[in-house]
Order: sequence, then structure tokens, then C-alpha cells
Amino acid sequence: MSDEPVEVFACPNGPFLVRGDITIDVGDAENPGGGAQRDQRRVVALCRCGASSIRPYCDGTHKVIGFRTVPPAR
Ligand code: FES
Repeated sequence: MSDEPVEVFACPNGPFLVRGDITIDVGDAENPGGGAQRDQRRVVALCRCGASSIRPYCDGTHKVIGFRTVPPAR
């Protein structure tokens, strides 16, 4: 496990990009935590449109469905 901070970037109209050493729980409602896996990639794109076929990861479907995010409040 790295001591470097994990960074999350919310892509406008797209996924969350997570940079850093993370563990992702891909378990389901009946087995939360049962699917924890450490991700070895430096940057992971996590779906936030809900339409990806490889959730929790983004597969680019957000572009096909025209997913739009709301700009952050100022
Ligand atoms: S955010 Fe990319 S497929 Fe959902």
C-alpha cells in the first residue's frame, strides 16, 4: 500500500477518475465487502452514469447515452 494520497477527479459528463493505490469492493447488496479487490492501475475510471456494463468501472457508455452532470455549486 502506498503512502501517496488518493485523488478523485469528477469528469464533467463522465466518470470519476481515481488516482492512487485503492481497494474496490465489487460485492453486492447481499455480500458487501465480499468482492474487495485491490486495483493495481494508477488511474481507475468509475462509472457514475449507471449504464456501464462493467460496473463499477466506466466503459464509455456515458457518451452513448448522453449522460450530463450538473456543474458544482459555487
Ligand atoms: S460514467 Fe462512463 S459508462 Fe458510466
